[in-house]
Amino acid sequence: MKIGIIASGGNAPGMNNAIIGFAKCALAAGYEPYVVYDGYKGLITNEIEKADIRLLENFIARGNIFIRTSRFPEFKDESIRQKAVENLHKHRINKLFICGGDGSYQGAEKLSKLGVECIATPGTIDNDISSTDYTIGFDSCLNFLTKTIDQLRNCFESHTGVFIVECMGRRWPDLTIESAIGCNAEYIITAENIITPDKFVEVVNTVMNKNGKKSCVFVVSEKLYGQDGHDTLTNIAKHIEEQTGFFTRAKLVCYDQRGAEPTARDRFMANIMAKYAVDLFLQNDHGYAIGYRNGQLIKTKLNEAINLTKTSEHQKQVDEYNKIMTAK
Ligand code: ADP
Ligand code: F6P
Repeated sequence: MKIGIIASGGNAPGMNNAIIGFAKCALAAGYEPYVVYDGYKGLITNEIEKADIRLLENFIARGNIFIRTSRFPEFKDESIRQKAVENLHKHRINKLFICGGDGSYQGAEKLSKLGVECIATPGTIDNDISSTDYTIGFDSCLNFLTKTIDQLRNCFESHTGVFIVECMGRRWPDLTIESAIGCNAEYIITAENIITPDKFVEVVNTVMNKNGKKSCVFVVSEKLYGQDGHDTLTNIAKHIEEQTGFFTRAKLVCYDQRGAEPTARDRFMANIMAKYAVDLFLQNDHGYAIGYRNGQLIKTKLNEAINLTKTSEHQKQVDEYNKIMTAK
């Protein structure tokens, strides 16, 4: 009746809540929950120990992951996964609850093929998992980002200035679009509408000179500028300042986002997803990715979940939003 718990991939606020929620429900259901430290790596280093629920409960409001996580690319290697399975057998664990992103789902699917009974739940700030509309961590990051942009606006408005915020999301646009619209940013840039330095200048001139605003905010998805022939945002900020005379700076909001405190929504969703996972294990139903769609918890076979594709509904809003915000 032993059952292992792993957090894997990039940390996301709310993962603690999924881990603690799962451990509590598993214990109540008669399982013996064990935690694996450092993601899939802990299956190799053997950092596996009985879950201490009283200790774990101290972390419900923290943006860390008490049992830690890791990127462990070695797990793509079949022989490493075999070793992981051997270690699990030594601990007499044959069930695993995994909280992570789509990379972690790949690992879970491959472990399932080796006979380990796995259930994965979506834990990533990016909200980019195809088998679910909700990922644990997105809401906490979005709220942190929104507050950060509001504060940057306060600062730059005081100086009649321009700022460019670059935010995480692994090229997936939801964090960018939701935070930008929530903050009334003047311009949104995602992978679908990368603009030139001169277009930045044109937007600033319209917003600040023609429309008389005291600040102009660009919210930009990460990993677009400073590569593929596009200049860095720091250089673009200098260009804007030279061309318009407005104080201009660029800032990347990244790991600070990932360390945000989990919001009520993320804590709640993490708990109900964890409980659902325990219910599935009790019914001997495994090999699934848990998701949330149309107000319902859903399960998708891991081998299907990793092959689905996702398109962002939000992307459709961007062009029209930018037009509205820069209308003269
Ligand atoms: P996320 O889970 O947030 O998408 P990653 O893509 O870094 O993050 O994946 C997390 C971990 O999952 C990786 O470090 C690795 O241990 C494991 N993993 C990712 N892809 C695979 C794969 N194709 N096969 C086996 N394990 C994988
Ligand atoms: O998947 C979460 C995420 O924070 C992405 O938004 C970002 O692109 C990536 O991880 C950063 O990866 P790393 O933690 O390896 O720097």
